[in-house]
Amino acid sequence: MLAIIGGSGMAMFDELVDRRRQVVRTPYGDPSCPLSFGRVDGHEIVFLARHGYGHTIAPHEINYRANLWALDEVGASDIVSVATVGSIRPDLAPGALLLPDQIIDYTHRRHGTFFEGPDQPVTHIDFTEPYDSSLRDRLVAAATSVGETLLVGGTYGCTQGPRLETAAEIVRLARDGCDIVGMTAMPEAALVRELGLPYATLAVVANHAAGIGDSAHHVSLADIAVVLEGAIGRVRKILRTLR
Ligand code: HPA
Repeated sequence: MLAIIGGSGMAMFDELVDRRRQVVRTPYGDPSCPLSFGRVDGHEIVFLARHGYGHTIAPHEINYRANLWALDEVGASDIVSVATVGSIRPDLAPGALLLPDQIIDYTHRRHGTFFEGPDQPVTHIDFTEPYDSSLRDRLVAAATSVGETLLVGGTYGCTQGPRLETAAEIVRLARDGCDIVGMTAMPEAALVRELGLPYATLAVVANHAAGIGDSAHHVSLADIAVVLEGAIGRVRKILRTLR
């Protein structure tokens, strides 16, 4: 069963037929919301709104462990996360859809592992490739079948938020090799790897990051909302056809 984690601008997956909700309790507390189950073209999907159905949970307040533990508990086989990001590359315009293949983590004080506490063994995971290339390929195939383009590859710099970055911070991220910047890739990706599930992120470029292009002097939150409204419809179309 495919799991979809919806980000900003995607608090529900209306395409689900026979939708039903289930509250899942976890050893780590409550997920962002009850899980939504339903079918798309006969395929069972589970959906979770990362920021809650009412978009009330900030990136640094999300209980990532509860969210992922819950999806694993109900039998998710693959996880596709939709994430809104800023573009650090001048040529990557708002509205672009991208499948990153790398992450740099700039977050702090988030619970980044299931393996902690007195009874847990010290556990290291391989995280060389944080995203699953087969799931990326399936997303590209789905996008192609509905006439959408997904750019493949790129490094996602994950900042702590909830504020956006300074221009100097974006210069530093660019120097580090980041192509896009967002606030939710971590620890989500690492926790999914601890669970051993395939994971891919469909990144929706909502704006040029601070100091870049039309965000040279400020980032317009009003413009972000407009871009997202258009782009999320295209994301839904792609996810509807993902097999
Ligand atoms: N920075 C961080 N997160 C974001 C941005 C940004 O510019 N745009 C959308 N999410």
